[in-house]
Amino acid sequence: MKGIILAGGTGTRLYPLTALMNKHLLPVGMHPMISYGIERLRKAAIKDIIIVIGKMSAGLYMDYLGSGEKLGVNISYKIQEEAGGIAQALSLVEAFVAPDEKFVVLLGDNLFLDDLTPYVKAFKDQPLGEARVLLKQVLDPRRYGVAAFHNKDKQRIAYIEEKPKKPPSNFCVTGIYMYDTEVFNHIRTIVPSARGELEITDVNNIYARSGKLSFNRLQAWWTDAGTFDSLHEAASHLKGVHP
Ligand code: DAU
Repeated sequence: MKGIILAGGTGTRLYPLTALMNKHLLPVGMHPMISYGIERLRKAAIKDIIIVIGKMSAGLYMDYLGSGEKLGVNISYKIQEEAGGIAQALSLVEAFVAPDEKFVVLLGDNLFLDDLTPYVKAFKDQPLGEARVLLKQVLDPRRYGVAAFHNKDKQRIAYIEEKPKKPPSNFCVTGIYMYDTEVFNHIRTIVPSARGELEITDVNNIYARSGKLSFNRLQAWWTDAGTFDSLHEAASHLKGVHP
């Protein structure tokens, strides 16, 4: 199983820091943000990793991570020329995975402490052509993609709403996704959203609406470190944590 970390995009919510360097290289505690996701994958025995990066700071990624050897993983890189959305970034790595191969996708600004191993195992046991997402209960779901459930028991996702004004639940869809190569066919069918991006939520809704989207709830701390507030929270939470 392979790992894909999406670390392109523009990081506008962290400007002017992101005028200096790509968001995912900013310090969080004692390490750059990107290190934590790499370690979560390695801990789940996923050691072949491709990182999608923008052109900005590309050399810094090489300087810091290199081939990944020192971190116990194999890292390759793919350049996203322009930020076209999460699904567009994901489409760039199609050649990295073998036909029918399963993989884990992490958004590079998602920081979390859960061990991915049991979720990855659950996904391995699912039939091909399905997907799995990880949810987290949050106080303000309006910043995220939010799951709407079929039943009151919250066992099946009916659909996901991206940044809803009236959230259908307080379970956000984190940037931790599991797919196989069928996802690339789905990405080919979606069109850019009002903000001009190929949205991962549109892709996940294809799975949800055909009953092929499973999920787990993260048990431990999680944040999307894409704003100044959450970046500060992450830095204090991960102060003594060594990925
Ligand atoms: O953090 C979880 C949320 O992430 C989900 O709940 C949302 O459904 C999902 O759309 C996403 O929302 P954000 O607004 O936080 O996404 P953002 O544009 O900040 O991008 C998140 C990461 O995706 C970013 O750290 C790098 C990667 N990315 C993003 C874009 C737009 C790329 O690699 N390329 C891109 O073009």
